[in-house]
Amino acid sequence: MIRLEDVKMYFQSRKGLFKTVEIKAIDGVSVEIDKGKTLALVGESGSGKTTLGRLTLRLLKPTAGHVFFEDLNITDLEEVHLKSFRRRAQAIFQDPYSSIDPFMNVHQIVEEPLIIHRIGKKKERNEMVHKALEDVRLTPTQEFSNKYPHMLSGGQRQRVGIARALILKPEYIVTDEPVSMIDASSRAEILHLMKNLQDKYRITVLYITHDIATAKYFADRIAVMYNGRIVEIGPPEKVVKEPIHPYTIKLLAAVPEPDPSNRFKERGVVEGEPPNPADIQWGCRFESRCQLQKEDNCKSKQPTLVQIKPEHYVACFLKDKDKS
Ligand SMILES: Nc1ncnc2c1ncn2[C@@H]1O[C@H](COP(=O)(O)OP(=O)(O)OP(=O)(O)O)[C@@H](O)[C@H]1O
Ligand SMILES: [Mg+2]
Repeated sequence: MIRLEDVKMYFQSRKGLFKTVEIKAIDGVSVEIDKGKTLALVGESGSGKTTLGRLTLRLLKPTAGHVFFEDLNITDLEEVHLKSFRRRAQAIFQDPYSSIDPFMNVHQIVEEPLIIHRIGKKKERNEMVHKALEDVRLTPTQEFSNKYPHMLSGGQRQRVGIARALILKPEYIVTDEPVSMIDASSRAEILHLMKNLQDKYRITVLYITHDIATAKYFADRIAVMYNGRIVEIGPPEKVVKEPIHPYTIKLLAAVPEPDPSNRFKERGVVEGEPPNPADIQWGCRFESRCQLQKEDNCKSKQPTLVQIKPEHYVACFLKDKDKS
């Protein structure tokens, strides 16, 4: 459904008055998501997850590489030719408050994408809104239709966001930390709901999260990102139960205790600072934090994903050697 081929996204960032530095937010990512499947993207803050999600939605144009939606190469398509893609691919964002217009009521918020894409007459649209609200269990739908965002709980607002994304019957959805702003008690419920709707409508999903635990529940495959590259990818039972890359192992060791007060752990942060993406020239990006016995390659070359076991790929010279 979605395929990225050696995609790079470099940002120019001002440093002082005259200098600009290049931030390699995504630096050579090739990955695909099969129809109806979920790929979870995990990794600490700044690793490039949101940037990658935005690239698959063509909200960003890559610096290099190609992005395909089915057979359509969307990399350089002009906006006029992206119309049907814009309907078929949708996003659900982290903060339901920021993505919802506070002066629109629930009915207007959910109906708006239909109006933008000129779908249906008023009566048909009303019926579709009603059905979308039922899908996300905002019932009685008539009652919720007239409410404004500030009258809703965080979980209810996120349901509105989901209804709004689903009303166009998209085939592909990017969900970027969909439950991280919601209180812990409603998270599981929202995740269940999303999973059910995904199965019901056979939607392909890119699920972006800090939290490997929910990724395990949600995804068919987990991709671990570090500093703009995928360092390990495979089915959850491989990546979570038998992690191979030293970064994945550290990330799993930092997995949250169910203690919401511990924000640091919750964001899956491992000790040490990741290098500034602007400073990396060559060598493995994890090298400065890696505690394994290093070799020359680690400092001079960037490891690429190598198949270690069936369906399980890892980008690490040392682990690559273990295999043989
Ligand atoms: N528009 C931009 N201009 C300049 N730099 C950017 C821009 N967008 C992202 N970056 C940089 O690219 C890198 C990756 O950012 P990104 O938001 O994709 O990370 P993330 O994994 O989603 O982090 P988080 O978990 O905090 O959401 C960061 O170093 C960020 O500062
Ligand atoms: Mg992000």
